[in-house]
Amino acid sequence: MITIEDLSTSQIEDVLDLAQEMEQNRDSFRGVASHALMANLFFEPSTRTRGSFESAMKRLGGDVVGTSDATSTSMTKGESLADTVRIWSSYADLMVIRHPWEGAARLASEYSDVPVINAGDGSHEHPTQTLLDLYTLRKEFGTLQGKKIVLCGDLKNGRTVHSLVYALLRFGAVIIFVPGEGLGLPDHVLHKIEADYQLPIQPIRHRGLEALYSRNRSGEEEEVDVIYMTPSYPHTLTLFDSMDLHMEKGESFALYATRRQGERESSVESDRPGAYPRIDSSILRMSDFSKAFVLHPLPRVDELSPSIDADPRSRYFQQARNGVPVRMSLIALMLGLYPWSKASRGDEGGPPRGASWDEPEVIVCDNPNCAATIESQNASHSFTIYQRPLIRLVCSYCERETIPSYFSYPFGEVYHPITDFPKERVDTGRFGFYRDTGTAQARGLRHPRRVTQEGQDAGE
Ligand code: NCD
Repeated sequence: MITIEDLSTSQIEDVLDLAQEMEQNRDSFRGVASHALMANLFFEPSTRTRGSFESAMKRLGGDVVGTSDATSTSMTKGESLADTVRIWSSYADLMVIRHPWEGAARLASEYSDVPVINAGDGSHEHPTQTLLDLYTLRKEFGTLQGKKIVLCGDLKNGRTVHSLVYALLRFGAVIIFVPGEGLGLPDHVLHKIEADYQLPIQPIRHRGLEALYSRNRSGEEEEVDVIYMTPSYPHTLTLFDSMDLHMEKGESFALYATRRQGERESSVESDRPGAYPRIDSSILRMSDFSKAFVLHPLPRVDELSPSIDADPRSRYFQQARNGVPVRMSLIALMLGLYPWSKASRGDEGGPPRGASWDEPEVIVCDNPNCAATIESQNASHSFTIYQRPLIRLVCSYCERETIPSYFSYPFGEVYHPITDFPKERVDTGRFGFYRDTGTAQARGLRHPRRVTQEGQDAGE
C-alpha cells in the first residue's frame, strides 16, 4: 500500500471495521499472525508509526525484524535502496518502510517479493496515518459526509495532510485549509483535487479560523485573510454565504493541526518563518470552537499548546493510540488472515488514472528528492499524463508534475507549443512531450511551419 488511493473506499471501511473489532476484543486476535514476520525498515526518525506497527504485529502474535537507523545499514557503504529491499524482503512476510525520498515506497515495492506498506515517503504520502485519522474521525462523527475538517499548518511538506485530503474527499467531507504562510498545498496536490475529484477550491473568510494565526513566534499580531475550502460537492457552495464560511451554532467540526516540517524546508524557507496557525487554550475558549475537537498526527512543536492536553475536546493522544488497532487490522487483511468484504472485491482504488508515458531520454522527473531521480538506475521513470486542469506529466514515484513546453501528435513530424494542445479529450498515450526544442529536434522533429502574415505557408 503505497498511497491511500491503493485502497478502495470499501477496503478503507473494511480496515476501519476490523480495527474496531480488534480494539473491542483485543484478546481474541492474539496469535492470529503467530507464523508471520514483518520487516520494519525505518530510514527516518519515528516514534508512533514504528512503535505502533511493532506493537500491532506483536499483539497479533507475529514477530518483527528490521532497522530503525539508516546509518546502521549497508546503505552507508553505498548499497542501493533496491538491493536493501530485495534482501529484507527475503527475510520477512511483509515490509513496512519509512524513507526520506518521495517515491521510496513505490521503488521498494518494485523490488520486494512481499507486500510493502508505506510508512511515510518524504513529503509525499503517509497512508496508514490517514487510516488512523479516519478511524478517529469516524468515532467522533459516525459519517464523514458533509463534515467540516480544518487542516492547519504545513500543507506543503506535510505528507499526512496529502494522504488525508484524498481520503476525506472520497468520503464527502468539506475540507478547510488553513496553511502556514507560504505553506499551502503544492500545485500537484491542488491539480489532483481539481482533476481527479472535480472539486473547486474557493477562498473564504471566517473570523474564528483567522484567529488561529493571531500570534506569531515573536508575539506580534498577524493577519491572513484567506482560507481555502473544498466543498464535498460543488453545489454545497450555495450553503456558504458570499464566501463567508458558515458554521451552524454549536456545529461540531475537526481541527487537524500539523507541525512545520523544518527538516523538509530549504534554508531560505526556514530563515523566513511566516504566520503559522496555532491552537492553545485561548483559541478553545472562543465560542467558534466550542464544538471543535482537536487532532494532530504528532510530534508537535509549538503549534499545539500543552495547555489544552486535558481539554475534553483534545483527541491527539487517543488518535495516536488508535494507530495500534488500525495497523493490526491492516496487517491482518494484507496478510490474508481475514478476507476483504464482498463489497471491496472488484472495487477500484482511487479515481481512474490517465495514460502512462515513459520516455526517460526525453523527460525525467526533476524533483531532486524523488527516489527515481536519486536511484535512477533502478527506477522505471514513468509518468501518467493528465489533460485536466492543464496538460501535465505526473511522476509515478513522487507524483510531482512536469509541465512540458512542446508536444507532437502521434506519428507527427513537427513539434508544437503546448498551448496548442487539443482542448478536447484525446488519447494522450501516443503523443510526444518535450521540455525544450532541443529534445524535440534530437528526436527528429521539425520546427512547426510558420504562416506568413498573408496567411501563406512559408515552410521552414
Ligand atoms: C508524521 C510524519 O512522520 O509524517 N508523524 C507521524 O507519523 N505520526 C507527522 C510529522 O512528522 O510531523
